[in-house]
Amino acid sequence: MKGKFITFEGIDGAGKSSHVEWLADWLRTQGKTVHVTREPGGTELGEKLRTLLLNDPMHLETETLLMFAARREHLARLIEPALARGEWVVCDRFSDATYAYQGGGRGLDRAKFLALEHWVHEHVQPDLTLLFDLPLDVARERIARASRVLDRFEQERADFHERVRQAYLERASTNPLRIRTIDASHSLEEIKVKIEKTVLEACL
Ligand code: TYD
Repeated sequence: MKGKFITFEGIDGAGKSSHVEWLADWLRTQGKTVHVTREPGGTELGEKLRTLLLNDPMHLETETLLMFAARREHLARLIEPALARGEWVVCDRFSDATYAYQGGGRGLDRAKFLALEHWVHEHVQPDLTLLFDLPLDVARERIARASRVLDRFEQERADFHERVRQAYLERASTNPLRIRTIDASHSLEEIKVKIEKTVLEACL
């Protein structure tokens, strides 16, 4: 028995987070047991690493290793046991984010990303990844409107976020079955319909 693993991805400001809970609730109405979680984070240790990662400046490779360290813990303690019990896991970001942010955004060597991905989760990949895509200026406007302190990634310049977006789109084009792109400039209602249709096709 194996559950399903669904991840949400996209540049900062794409608005994916509001749909994570909605999808989990919808899956529960379909009789599934669902865990909602996020990266970096998802475990007690992972949330401590998240605080460091989002606030403390560090070397690119330290950043990448901490992302994968938090991920190893997350897989061992939450994701793998839940999937083995036949339960569903809906996760706000996973390794595609490392590919896009540390790889695309910061220029991490691709071979290093692949080595870590192989080490940490050779046998686990999301069954489905929903990539929220929208033009950078719309995303930046949404972030600017948020009345809170911005984290280290949100504070990055526009060209960083454009490289992140392009890396996500490139990864989607090389993994077309797993990664489905959602036009995040559509209305909330249209996006919900699209998510429901995509999950029904891919997972149910
Ligand atoms: P985010 O989902 O944006 O959290 P919130 O919506 O609460 O602000 O995630 C936090 C940041 O972490 C985001 O800017 C992207 C970054 N990140 C990476 O750079 N690499 C990774 O591997 C992951 C999982 C996240």
